[in-house]
Amino acid sequence: MTNSKIAGIGSYLPDRIVKNQDLTKYLDTSDEWIRERTGIEERRYATKHLQTTTTLGTEAAKIAIERAGIQKEDIDFIIFATLSPDYYFPGCGVLLQRELGITNTEIGALDIRNQCTGFIYGLSIADQFIKTGMYKNILLVGAEMHSMGLDFSDEGRGVTVIFGDGAGAVVLQPTQKEGQGILTTHLHADGTHAEELAMINPGSHGGYHVGTEKYGYPDPSVPGGVFVTQKMLDDGLLAPNMSGQLVFKTAVAKFPEVIREALAKTGYTTADIDIFVPHQANLRISQMVQKLLRIPDEKVVNNIQKYGNTTAASIPIALCEAWENGRVKDGDLVCLAAFGSGFTWGSALIRW
Ligand code: UT7
Repeated sequence: MTNSKIAGIGSYLPDRIVKNQDLTKYLDTSDEWIRERTGIEERRYATKHLQTTTTLGTEAAKIAIERAGIQKEDIDFIIFATLSPDYYFPGCGVLLQRELGITNTEIGALDIRNQCTGFIYGLSIADQFIKTGMYKNILLVGAEMHSMGLDFSDEGRGVTVIFGDGAGAVVLQPTQKEGQGILTTHLHADGTHAEELAMINPGSHGGYHVGTEKYGYPDPSVPGGVFVTQKMLDDGLLAPNMSGQLVFKTAVAKFPEVIREALAKTGYTTADIDIFVPHQANLRISQMVQKLLRIPDEKVVNNIQKYGNTTAASIPIALCEAWENGRVKDGDLVCLAAFGSGFTWGSALIRW
């Protein structure tokens, strides 16, 4: 039976380090508050107007392609996961194709919008295409340039301090080796809480949202409208919002649930996991999940302290770093799990 394996992995973090203390120049916050609530000490910001989500993703992709031992021309499908795309449309998939200099138009480029769970969704999609024999070299990228879309006024502090920029990428290929590769993936969604962690402007609701004026201002006198109104800009309605405590509580419940689901499917137990790479949402969430599942420290990868929450990029960045440091070895059982906006959540078990 054909499975999909990660044949190459790469990551890219912009050079500019933004420490918690640096944020206190713009926001009413403190290093102590951020460390205590999130574990974050610093994050990276890309260079405004010179880099974009696509260019960050391209740097990570080049490394993954090289490590997979293939040429860019061998890529037959691109999947790009981000919540901070260069453009409203088209998505970053085609921009990455162009940036990498892939002129082959036989390939497809898919953009997925599953925020923190984007990489797991991408992995699952790639796995299905490889298992059916449709593609042989899928490039999956998770990249974010949050720094261009955050609210640097005090009102945005609960969200702004958490997020950072970065990118991770993998090349997926078929493997016939018994028991190797992606063993199972599990995807979930619950749209009930869609607006609890969201950036709802600009959007086709045109500033009018489910019968309220909470997120914007309707103008019923005109048949159409514009995505962005001056009033949205004036009132700071073009930034992400988050019900932090609801997200926290739900994440702590869903992470273990979806990991147990993957273990049950494959007949493994938490003790069989060699390395656990959770989406880097908040160090306190990862620690609670680790405690609930009784996974020892040496098996858990956390690097949110250095990079903040990089959403779709966080798992491939953490996995890449762990692999580079020799923490992921051939034959290891690797557990990935994520939870985030949507709400969406998911898990994957990989035999490396
Ligand atoms: O990738 C998945 C997406 N996101 C997450 O997983 C995040 C999940 N949620 C969280 O990580 C936490 O809820 C946060 C870190 C976002 C917030 O921590 P919290 O303990 O839930 O804080 P809170 O929102 O309940 O706010 C507590 C206090 C408030 O002040 P008062 O009302 O008690 O006076 C906030 O105004 O902390 C205040 N606060 C801040 N103070 C300093 C909120 N943000 C900040 C800040 N600096 N950056």
